[in-house]
Amino acid sequence: MNLNISPLSAEQVCQLKTIAASLNQQQLFWLAGYFTGLTTGTETGFEETEGIQSNVASTELTILYGSHTGNGEGLAKKAQKLATESGYKVTLKDMTDYKTRDLQNEKNVLVIVSTHGEGEPPFSAHELHEFIHSKRAPRLYGLAYAVLALGDSSYFHFCKTGIDFDKQLGKLGAKQLVECATCDVDFEETADNWLQKAIIAFDGQQSVAPVTPLTSAAQQAQTVTVSKKNPFQALVLEKVGLYGRGSTRQTIHLELGTENVAGLDYQPGDAAGVIPVNPVELINEVLAQTGLDAGTIVTVNGKEKKLDDTLYSDVVLSKITTDVIKRYLEFYPNETLAALASDAEKFKTYLDGRDIVDLLQDYPAEIDAGTLIKILRPLTPRYYSISSSPKAFPGEIHLTVGVVKYHSAGRDKRGTCSTFLSEIAVEDEKVLVFIESNPDFRLPEYEQTPIIMVGAGTGIAPYRAFVQHREMSDNPGKSWLFFGNRNFETEFIYQTDWQAFLKSGALTRMDVAFSRDSDKKVYVQDRLWENGAEVFQWLEEGAHFYICGDMKNMARHVQDTLVKIVEKYGLLSKEYTYEYVENLEKTKRLQLDVY
Ligand SMILES: Cc1cc2nc3c(=O)[nH]c(=O)nc-3n(C[C@H](O)[C@H](O)[C@H](O)COP(=O)(O)OP(=O)(O)OC[C@H]3O[C@@H](n4cnc5c(N)ncnc54)[C@H](O)[C@@H]3O)c2cc1C
Ligand SMILES: Cc1cc2nc3c(=O)[nH]c(=O)nc-3n(C[C@H](O)[C@H](O)[C@H](O)COP(=O)(O)O)c2cc1C
Repeated sequence: MNLNISPLSAEQVCQLKTIAASLNQQQLFWLAGYFTGLTTGTETGFEETEGIQSNVASTELTILYGSHTGNGEGLAKKAQKLATESGYKVTLKDMTDYKTRDLQNEKNVLVIVSTHGEGEPPFSAHELHEFIHSKRAPRLYGLAYAVLALGDSSYFHFCKTGIDFDKQLGKLGAKQLVECATCDVDFEETADNWLQKAIIAFDGQQSVAPVTPLTSAAQQAQTVTVSKKNPFQALVLEKVGLYGRGSTRQTIHLELGTENVAGLDYQPGDAAGVIPVNPVELINEVLAQTGLDAGTIVTVNGKEKKLDDTLYSDVVLSKITTDVIKRYLEFYPNETLAALASDAEKFKTYLDGRDIVDLLQDYPAEIDAGTLIKILRPLTPRYYSISSSPKAFPGEIHLTVGVVKYHSAGRDKRGTCSTFLSEIAVEDEKVLVFIESNPDFRLPEYEQTPIIMVGAGTGIAPYRAFVQHREMSDNPGKSWLFFGNRNFETEFIYQTDWQAFLKSGALTRMDVAFSRDSDKKVYVQDRLWENGAEVFQWLEEGAHFYICGDMKNMARHVQDTLVKIVEKYGLLSKEYTYEYVENLEKTKRLQLDVY
């Protein structure tokens, strides 16, 4: 601009030049806005300016950039400088280093992102881009944002990624402060001007009032008190197999959405109760074996229902127990079965791995629908340790489910609930869930207290929640994980999570035992024993010791090993060793979650 041809006097020009020379770019831009405001009547004077400046000083601004060839990164650094000079508390993050779940805690976010491929996000923006478009994306009613999109107009999808971010953040409820800028290859001037404008716009946005969300009926909060009798409906967000190809077994990671459940309260260590239904194939086998009609009406809990509906959701079909046999014999006396039932050892062997179809095949009777339902046990929930922390994943519950499959008595068998979760409950459907509090399996009260976690197979589940929780703490204590499974290659559950935790320091040590990787079988208790001196040292430092998973073998062996370690490294007599371990239990420093 040429001041010599301005309507200003020579003296005014001189004053203006002096002031301008003393101002930085950000201040100049602010003044430009101020003068515009004066001419349009929207700016009232400097009193307000002072107020704005004090807001800036307390305003936090997160700048997120997704850049491939460095243009966006350069602009992000420029934005950081401008915003810092203006008094903002700035956090600059490459999207690739940004924890997507932190988004819901942000107040002000400035996004700078380019587009690559055929309208794709640059690699570093992939995860965040996917996250905000996913079902698990949080509602962002407390967030103010502005997006700068970089691109090249010769491409069909010009600036698509930036536009995606802009639209989607708005859809999630965030407040757009400045219209999204779409910058072409000669982006510098447009970007600079936009940045000036955007940075000012964040001024004073630290307390964006949450807007009451307009939700669909499905999203509206379920306000019932959650309990076993009043379970809530959780949306299946994602389901992934955790075992690699080559494993003969299956364990799945399941993510359930609980965002719509009001007042849901749980802690790491708690379990989720899941209400399953029976697989249709097994129901059909029961109907075929009995010759009963699926539509026959039966009475369950005083209500009339079709037989197949009852077999679907009300009774246990996957296993038979002594009480089922007892009732069966009452209705259909059978000498051979009665004799078997009176021989405890043989009877136990018979029941093991058999289901109702086996019983009906082995000891057939002319059974009617009503009696069949009376004989069977009511279907009860199954419990799964929650493998996510409510702090790290608010609005979600993760489960780690070992799928029960086996062959016995000539037929393939499947566990009811693990089959339900792995096969029947598909993504986007809802499952009935409640929280089962587990006060005897808790992180220590003080976060600096060291923890030793021992688990095999799905026993690792609550430890994922523990470590996630500690990762969110300011100053977590040491943590040591002992994990065992069959094969390193195929059954190292959550391997990348543990690696990330080790890197971040949330997990201090990890020792693994894969029993089928070598001729000599190695289990978690062996790893514990090998590290006995240090384990004892940790205990002496006050560590809490956790055991989770298989009750029949692992838990007992680990407890025995713990006793041996205390005896050896504590140089204690048998009596004092016993007292030491008993004291760990009494003071809740030794906690078990076994099944
Ligand atoms: C507090 C708690 C936490 C738990 N946490 C988890 C967890 O995090 N992850 C997890 O996967 N599970 C966990 N469980 C176990 C879970 O609750 C279920 O018991 C498990 O998933 C099996 O249930 P199901 O309905 O699939 O099988 P069911 O229909 O109950 O069938 C299981 C039954 O099948 C029979 N059976 C199984 N395998 C064989 C075989 N090879 N041969 C013969 N018979 C066999 C047994 O009788 C067994 O009881 C937990 C349990 C508790 C109590
Ligand atoms: C291989 C490649 C593909 C691209 N695809 C697109 C595209 O689909 N749409 C678009 O608007 N720009 C596209 N661009 C242009 C970039 O977005 C643009 O150069 C931008 O300034 C890069 O910013 P960055 O260095 O921060 O990644 C592409 C660039 C390259 C190198």
